Amino acid sequence: MMASRTAICRGIQRRSWGIGTRSMSSWWSQVDPAPKDPILGVTEAFLADPSPDKVNVGVGAYRDDNGKPVVLECVREAERRIAGNKNMEYLPMGGSMHMVEETLKLAYGENSDLIKEKRIAAVQALSGTGACRLFADFQKRFRPDSQIYIPVPTWSNHHNIWRDAQVPQRTFHYYHPETKGLDFASLMDDIKNAPNGSFFLLHACAHNPTGVDPTEEQWKEISYQLKVKGHFPFFDMAYQGFASGDPERDAKAIRIFLEDGHLIGCAQSYAKNMGLYGQRVGCLSLVCDDEKQAIAVKSQLQQIARPMYSNPPVHGALVVSTILSDPDLKNLWLKEVKGMADRIIGMRTALRENLEKLGSPLSWEHITNQIGMFCYSGMTPEQVDRLTNEFHIYMTRNGRISMAGVTTGNVGYLANAIHEVTKSA
Ligand code: LMR
Repeated sequence: MMASRTAICRGIQRRSWGIGTRSMSSWWSQVDPAPKDPILGVTEAFLADPSPDKVNVGVGAYRDDNGKPVVLECVREAERRIAGNKNMEYLPMGGSMHMVEETLKLAYGENSDLIKEKRIAAVQALSGTGACRLFADFQKRFRPDSQIYIPVPTWSNHHNIWRDAQVPQRTFHYYHPETKGLDFASLMDDIKNAPNGSFFLLHACAHNPTGVDPTEEQWKEISYQLKVKGHFPFFDMAYQGFASGDPERDAKAIRIFLEDGHLIGCAQSYAKNMGLYGQRVGCLSLVCDDEKQAIAVKSQLQQIARPMYSNPPVHGALVVSTILSDPDLKNLWLKEVKGMADRIIGMRTALRENLEKLGSPLSWEHITNQIGMFCYSGMTPEQVDRLTNEFHIYMTRNGRISMAGVTTGNVGYLANAIHEVTKSA
């Protein structure tokens, strides 16, 4: 027997009113506010501060000497060429293969045999974060019992990425607080003591947050030891070009590992070195045994991408491939990367000199010894809080200074404030 339509509707209404009135206010009552992101939260606080003196040396985003965000000239020219010339159709799930091919050359070398032999499974990713996350999900899916060894310290988001992919995390020694340099001996011990076949996360260059990279000789030893132990090296290369000013030189660590026959994984990003921060363009690559395996791996990476975001965005990929496939634009890019790296190096010297002139009792040698976008100052969270509260200087509480935010206009003010909060330490 069929109940009348009106009776059913009345029943549904009555039920949903009953549940509705009770649950309206309770669906998300168990949700507490998330903790502020230790890096992006600093930008939020900076933006909310009305002080005219405020300085942002928090997020790693390049500024010119007037403190303004930069759109590279090569990017402007690429955009002029793209405008009206390209359609905005969906990319394939793996993204723009043109962009990916050019990107692989930067990491693996223009004449890489691995590229010629089609042994690299590679997909466009949502910048470096997206590349790391795709890899972490892939690791979980195909090596479900594995863990990831992460350096101490590392970029805070690395922890979030592998946590959300549900890959257990272990740490390895990296930075030595007393020397403000690499803790090479402990790092090597940790590699030796990790169970054979462990996954290691390595920063290819310009380590974030410390600005401390192994020397070439140390990289060789690290590579050798990882090989002996059968570990998997996963490189996060978010700053290619920012360490030395030359992307080719900054790929040295990766090339050493490739020469030693490692089957590496690599996350690449154009956020910093092309200034394409908000375009979210990057690449994940995994070196495979042969072409057949590379095809299988790539298809699985695409399958992970499909339910998350279907396919990556097109505009940034077009900008990158336009620049890298045109020799003139590529040369312009290389010049501009060097210009950014050099300005930062100049600011390191200026900050150190200012602190020394103020008569700081501390050594600030590490400011010029460290490389890349960041200086790991050694300041305590309390000292950083004083910088923020008393001087409107915004930076992460681990004492990391984004040198990209330091300018000839603010370096004196910054040095003076650092001196004030550290002089009695
Ligand atoms: C940083 O470390 O400041 C950058 O990589 C930006 C970010 O997303 O954290």
